[in-house]
Amino acid sequence: MLVPNTNDKNLEHVAIIMDGNGRWAENKGRPRLFGHQAGARRVREIVESCPDLGIKYLTIFAFSTENWKRTQIEVSGLMKLFKRYIYKETKPLIDAGVRVRFIGDRVRLEESLVKLMDQLENLTKGNTEVNLTIAINYGGRDEVARAAKRMARDVQSGDLNVEKINEETIPRYLDTHVLPDPGLVIRTSGEARISNFLLWQSAYSEYEFIDTLWPDFTAEIFSSIVNEFENRERRFGGILK
Ligand code: IPE
Ligand code: IPE
Ligand code: MG
Repeated sequence: MLVPNTNDKNLEHVAIIMDGNGRWAENKGRPRLFGHQAGARRVREIVESCPDLGIKYLTIFAFSTENWKRTQIEVSGLMKLFKRYIYKETKPLIDAGVRVRFIGDRVRLEESLVKLMDQLENLTKGNTEVNLTIAINYGGRDEVARAAKRMARDVQSGDLNVEKINEETIPRYLDTHVLPDPGLVIRTSGEARISNFLLWQSAYSEYEFIDTLWPDFTAEIFSSIVNEFENRERRFGGILK
């Protein structure tokens, strides 16, 4: 059973770097895509555990701007998997009251995938139980570059005053503009790096790096990490009272 989270520290947004699918499959002597399929199946349980844990926002890293470097077979297999995930999960997501959003640059994605992404966002936009954000073709640096471009356009058109640009202006131009910053970022598979995920947004996030490979990640593990978060001292540059 999950230990209910009292959420004293108000952990409303958790982000996850779902890593280790490839190694999980290789350990079993199976192709990497077998690991990605198992990884995709893990998502539902984690999303559905959020209300009990008091988590309103969950953001998951599914495909980075750097992941195009993989073989054509793996990349096209992943794109196919994203489409299949949307088909298969639409009903369970709606039933669980999940609002889905996608972040990342859609320009490089297949039209048929983008269509499904738009559809799922539209179908779930009235839901309020959990906000699930899926990062596809997402890179923190790419996101900041795209934001800078839009800001420059607004300056050019006179909609944005250069003198007024400050730390509050930039997040309004990021893909995540409607989301709070994540309080906690979890990465599975034992790698202790952030691989270009939520660079601006995670400036003051707590990080948890765990050895479990993503296809072995469970709601139980998730719950224990979230509960452990309660014990962390967050100072935000100040001193403890
Ligand atoms: C994470 O698993 C999923 C994606 C990056 C798409 P990996 O595919 O990176 O798995 P490992 O790191 O090779 O084990
Ligand atoms: C990060 O994992 C991206 C996703 C989980 C989608 P990677 O496996 O691509 O990251 P690196 O290559 O180990 O930094
Ligand atoms: Mg990896």
